[in-house]
Amino acid sequence: MRVFYLSYIFLQLSIEILGQITDTFTCVPNAQCPGGGGGGGDINPRVGPDLRIVSPTGATTTAAPTSTCPPGYVACTTLPKCGTPSVQPSTANGQATRGSLPWQAYLTNSAGTYIGGGMLLDSYHVLTAAHKTNESGIIVYMGVYNPQTDLSGNTMRSNVQSVSRYPSYNISTLRDDIAILRLSTPLTMSATAIAGCLPAAGRSFVGNDCIVAGWGQTNFNTYDAPTSILKQAIVRIIDAQTCLNSYSNANLLGTNAALYLDTQREICAGGSINIDACTKDGGSPLMCNDGTKYVAAGLVIWGKNCGMQNVYGVYVSVPSYRSWIDCVVRAFNSNQVPVCY
Ligand SMILES: *[C@@H]1O[C@H](CO)[C@@H](O)[C@H](O)[C@H]1NC(C)=O
Ligand SMILES: *[C@@H]1O[C@H](CO)[C@@H](O)[C@H](O)[C@H]1NC(C)=O
Repeated sequence: MRVFYLSYIFLQLSIEILGQITDTFTCVPNAQCPGGGGGGGDINPRVGPDLRIVSPTGATTTAAPTSTCPPGYVACTTLPKCGTPSVQPSTANGQATRGSLPWQAYLTNSAGTYIGGGMLLDSYHVLTAAHKTNESGIIVYMGVYNPQTDLSGNTMRSNVQSVSRYPSYNISTLRDDIAILRLSTPLTMSATAIAGCLPAAGRSFVGNDCIVAGWGQTNFNTYDAPTSILKQAIVRIIDAQTCLNSYSNANLLGTNAALYLDTQREICAGGSINIDACTKDGGSPLMCNDGTKYVAAGLVIWGKNCGMQNVYGVYVSVPSYRSWIDCVVRAFNSNQVPVCY
């Protein structure tokens, strides 16, 4: 994550609590607690760009004391709704505020090496970039802020049982670079593990200023990932044609721009000096506040270098894959191998 301001003065503009993280519960008919949760800085293979790097809302799981409900009903603990952190994210570029991006997943390979980010979909599923899934034994951690101290203790972790990549994912162009990890053991949803919300299919976020976070490199040529603290950048989502025009510059991808940039199913954001995702931020979500909750607009996939003026970060567009995501999660929840498009 390349961020210009390493400001320690965070504007606490709002301490509004959007999501209730309390021990509230709802009474539902016997045995019907709904399950589930809330809801390549580099296409570097350097020939091309530089690789970077069901969510029912307000779901419930844990049984609460039954005595509090009428006969024939059970109490279900209400978990936080998707996209509603108990700590509001900072509006500044630089270090993220601890606990403010509780959907942010930290992925390692089996050797414990950090490989990238992802977004929690529910207690069993994490959304990430397909190019982050070519490792055996991926481990998902939630609740990480400083990986130097947070990878044990209270951090939640799970191994990955299976991976579903978008069928036409292309490893050389990074088109359709999206995947879902099915966890071996469900994560306990809590204030530090809250799902990000999924947008409706086809929703546009052009013009929105959104948050991308990660432990990726602070510079294209500085191999410092994972950074010790989760960093964030506020980037504006721009229209696809402006992005294509920019990448068509001979210094960037030239006449190959349209081969790599999928203007239908990828989005671009950023283009300001030093405020960008970078290598090893791949898979991390770009989250937009729609007024009541944070919704995933994209996932970090590629760019050229990092943090250069008018060189945009490229993200796989989450709204373009909404029906595929729903299909995969449904299949995994039914113990089936996903066959989804
Ligand atoms: C995984 O990496 C190997 C070796 O680089 C490559 O041949 C293969 O196509 C990759 N698979 C995926 C799904 O990325
Ligand atoms: C990936 O895209 C390139 C360029 O369009 C194409 O030549 C190649 O066959 C594709 N690879 C796969 C596995 O589809």
